[in-house]
Amino acid sequence: MTTTSNFDKLRELNQKAEAGGGAQRGQRQHEQGKLLARERLDILLDGGSFVELDRFRTHECSDFGMDQQKFLGDAVVTGFGAIDGRLVYAYSQDFTVFGGSLSGVVAEKICKVMDMAVKNGSPIIGINDSGGARIQEGVTSLAGYGEIFQRNVMASGVVPQISAIMGPCAGGAVYSPAITDFIFMVKTNSYMFITGPEVIKAVTHEEVTKEDLGGAETHSAKSGVAHFTANTEKDCLLMIRELISFLPSNNQEDPPFHPTNDDPLRRDKKLRDLVPDNPNRPYDMKELIGAVVDESYFYEVQREFAPNILVGFARLGGRPVGIVANQPANLAGCLDINASVKAARFIRFCDCFNMPVVTFVDVPGFLPGTSQEYDGIIRHGAKLLYAYAEATVPKVAVVTRKAYGGGYIVMSSKHLRGDINLAYPTGEIAVMGPEGAISIVFRDALKKAANPLKARDEMVQQYRETFANPFKAAESGYVDAVIYPEDTRPTLIRCLEMLKNKQDHNPPKKHGNIPL
Ligand code: HXC
Repeated sequence: MTTTSNFDKLRELNQKAEAGGGAQRGQRQHEQGKLLARERLDILLDGGSFVELDRFRTHECSDFGMDQQKFLGDAVVTGFGAIDGRLVYAYSQDFTVFGGSLSGVVAEKICKVMDMAVKNGSPIIGINDSGGARIQEGVTSLAGYGEIFQRNVMASGVVPQISAIMGPCAGGAVYSPAITDFIFMVKTNSYMFITGPEVIKAVTHEEVTKEDLGGAETHSAKSGVAHFTANTEKDCLLMIRELISFLPSNNQEDPPFHPTNDDPLRRDKKLRDLVPDNPNRPYDMKELIGAVVDESYFYEVQREFAPNILVGFARLGGRPVGIVANQPANLAGCLDINASVKAARFIRFCDCFNMPVVTFVDVPGFLPGTSQEYDGIIRHGAKLLYAYAEATVPKVAVVTRKAYGGGYIVMSSKHLRGDINLAYPTGEIAVMGPEGAISIVFRDALKKAANPLKARDEMVQQYRETFANPFKAAESGYVDAVIYPEDTRPTLIRCLEMLKNKQDHNPPKKHGNIPL
């Protein structure tokens, strides 16, 4: 008798928990084009794999009549499941319960799965849709955020941490996603800001819409806070599944091998003509990457931010790699503040998670100008240098055309422990481009020349023959091999195979002091 009634009770409790904040609030969520917390988990995880934890926990607040309003599970659904059969932990905030706000109990539930993720070595994925700190709980709620932030930091570099923003994410609440490795946003209904439009208006008299202040487009293109933008929530969750397919579960594992039908020895003749003879003509580095990697598939990270540098994941011979590449089609591939920060963070992620870094170099140098200097290009550019220099994962670089000055050194050069440095015959490794160099070194000779234009042409030609090629660097061993462009794929795959057991270590220290 007791057993039967407990079964009934369980069914009843389950139904209550699954109802969240109730049908009406659920309907409102749908009307706003948003999915419910559990619907999101259904798309994110392999069918039937989700095991929910703490679904009967309720908040512990009795102020403001809160003891009369209890919802099973409180405002978050937490647990573990699988993506392509691999274990992941997840939490999904439930906006139908007190606007997904963070109570002490919500924080405890989130912390529990974060702790499990670290102990068991699997990624943690957070789906954020919340009005922030639970106002009725005061400092208890703030304490909860603090506990989450601390765990985010401890988990950083141990297991991949991924955040999806599928509703409001405001105030200090933004800092948990900000510490995680990747932030996904959805084009509508996805907002991140420290203070909302109303507070801004009151304090600074500035008028701005929610969308302009902290929507997906703003954070993808302007601030660089978001790494991915999806058109719909479903697309967003599927994109997260795809990202997971490139990543190891933790920092002790190698990234997962995916068998491919793409021939590792495939040579692509089109590469021979892709880099233009004229060094001032742009070309699309994405085409080059596409011609080299497995099935031409490049999973680009931060596509809209600092498009003068490309970062993202791909596979070579079935093995995931991180790709960093200057993009000559944008700002001539110059390194500026945003590009430096974008690439530095990506390289550090790769280094945390044993992901080899393949770099394609075509860089005329750092972007000159007062705006860059005033905003600290020295400090920010140093981050990129630092990231390459400290990384101990396999590092392979291909100079396709320009590698001038600081850009040459920074972009995975031999001097920053590059393992294999390749160059195309079109590579130009020099302190600067011929025009600039001649203006400085032969200034007087040019002034005195009977025909300055002719003299200049001759000097440029002489400079090109001497420096604007990869052969001097190859003579010095700074370039290990000059390769035909069509051999890029087979050569990279062989090099990465050779480096697969690479061991390298930095000196013992508490941590370095990257110029932040
Ligand atoms: C308790 C909250 C809540 C909160 C929303 N609700 N936010 N309950 N604490 N922070 C409740 C509402 O009372 C409502 O309950 C339900 O959630 C849905 O809210 P609505 O306002 O009806 O929804 P919507 O119009 O979509 O607006 C969503 C919103 C707005 C933009 C998030 O609710 C809002 O501005 N909330 C306050 C946001 C905020 O200032 N949070 C504190 C930020 S500071 P019913 O019962 O009607 O369904 C912070 C500090 C963190 O978070 C610090 C960390 C270090």
